[in-house]
Amino acid sequence: MVFALFGNPVHHSRSPQIHTAFAAQREQPMDFRLILAPLNDFAGSVQEFFSTGGVGANVTLPFKEQAWELCDELSDRARHAGAVNTLWQKDGRLCGDNTDGIGMVTDIRDNLHWPLAHQRILILGAGGAVRGVLGPLLDEHPAHIRIANRTAEKARELSLMFAGHGVPIFGGGLDNLAGPYDLIINAISAGLGGSMPELPGGLIGPQTRCYDMIYGDTPFLRWAAQQGAAQTADGLGMLVEQAAEAFSVWHGWRPQTKAVIEQMRS
Ligand code: ATR
Repeated sequence: MVFALFGNPVHHSRSPQIHTAFAAQREQPMDFRLILAPLNDFAGSVQEFFSTGGVGANVTLPFKEQAWELCDELSDRARHAGAVNTLWQKDGRLCGDNTDGIGMVTDIRDNLHWPLAHQRILILGAGGAVRGVLGPLLDEHPAHIRIANRTAEKARELSLMFAGHGVPIFGGGLDNLAGPYDLIINAISAGLGGSMPELPGGLIGPQTRCYDMIYGDTPFLRWAAQQGAAQTADGLGMLVEQAAEAFSVWHGWRPQTKAVIEQMRS
């Protein structure tokens, strides 16, 4: 049984380690490969994988939207997310799911034990990562969600797309934000390059928790700590939880994640 992660670049990925650790919980062997798909032929790469015995695959940047387009069948959460990170085949048809949103929510709610219901939530960024998590986040019934993005229009579009969930949701620019918020989630990919955009003061109060979808010691989390955030967390737990959800889609059982998160952290 061969599994894989498609991406470009992909060599940095910790997915093989994570999936091997999951499989070891039931003493299953695991062949998990990293596939550097060419930027101009993701579809060809996927087709080759499944036609030569591949069973399941994860998809990372920059192919999640292409994977969505390629699928014959989509789960509800993948349809809303507009992106697919989990692929498998059923009766020769390519099926897609998106486990990023449920991965983040599981990490925040069950691992960190941070509340989500009735919380005032600010999301920084309005790219694919945000679209992927909005559905599962709204299902937790926060008080409201504001999406703030450099390109305000993209945040507004996203807020309109998710307006029918019974939770007030707004979108706009990175200025004119009035805090404090209970939870701030960062999905601005500039954090990867070591910088954060200028943000207005007053977003963080003594109760504010800050979560970065990226893992590691990020500029956003450093900023949050300087501003006096009550608690901060990076996206390592999200990475492991989205993998666990994908694993359960492929194998029909959900692995334990706590020890794997600790193992990855160390
Ligand atoms: P992802 O899949 O990580 O969401 P993406 O779809 O390319 O990647 O989105 C990147 C996000 O980071 C966007 O919200 C982007 O803002 P714009 O929509 O205005 O482009 C944000 N971003 C990237 N670089 C940024 C920067 N230097 N300052 C502020 N926001 C930035």
